[in-house]
Amino acid sequence: AYTAEPFVPGGGGLPALRRAAAGCRGCPLHRDATQTVFGTGTADARVMLVGEQPGDQEDRQGKPFVGPAGQLLDRALAEAGLDPAEAYVTNAVKHFKFTRAEPRKRRIHKAPSLREMTACGPWLAAELAVVEPELIVVLGATAGKALLGSSFRVGEVRGTVLEREIHGRPERLVPTVHPSSVLRADDREGAYRGLVSDLEVAVSALS
Ligand code: URA
Ligand code: SF4
Repeated sequence: AYTAEPFVPGGGGLPALRRAAAGCRGCPLHRDATQTVFGTGTADARVMLVGEQPGDQEDRQGKPFVGPAGQLLDRALAEAGLDPAEAYVTNAVKHFKFTRAEPRKRRIHKAPSLREMTACGPWLAAELAVVEPELIVVLGATAGKALLGSSFRVGEVRGTVLEREIHGRPERLVPTVHPSSVLRADDREGAYRGLVSDLEVAVSALS
């Protein structure tokens, strides 16, 4: 089975994890992507935000949530009263998965498979073990499935505080929609308000 496990160092904190993740070959996604996009933020962050996987911009720049979805997310976080600098931001899958309609054409984001999410899980587990966030904000269905299992439905639990055991640790989680779903929504303003109000639930859940 695909797994990042043999690439994850036993200790050493975030810098060591980041260095090791740059060389991960735990699944085939490293082959076509530009680079590993590891999480950003400090080990003492109170909140961990988990997205799906890097997009085109993230793949080029090597940082999570720097493209259009990330800009929307930063705005929503600020509006909900959460300083983006206080959060650790990462993805369930650390390499960009894409297809091209034609050679040399624009790269189109493709959802990671369950196998790829499972393969990449040890990186997320290692990030959780180091950061020990007070709260995890789950951004969309893919992150939800990666953290909470394949039966996860974002519409059923968004904007609520869940208490679950994740990678062997008791965690509190607030799920919400993925910021890129807001960009695609017919009622973009309504979808954005919904995201902000879910993030407000997360902010109030911080002690
Ligand atoms: N979408 C994600 O899920 N993660 C990113 O880093 C960027 C876009
Ligand atoms: Fe490793 Fe995850 Fe990249 Fe696959 S997607 S190669 S498991 S870092």
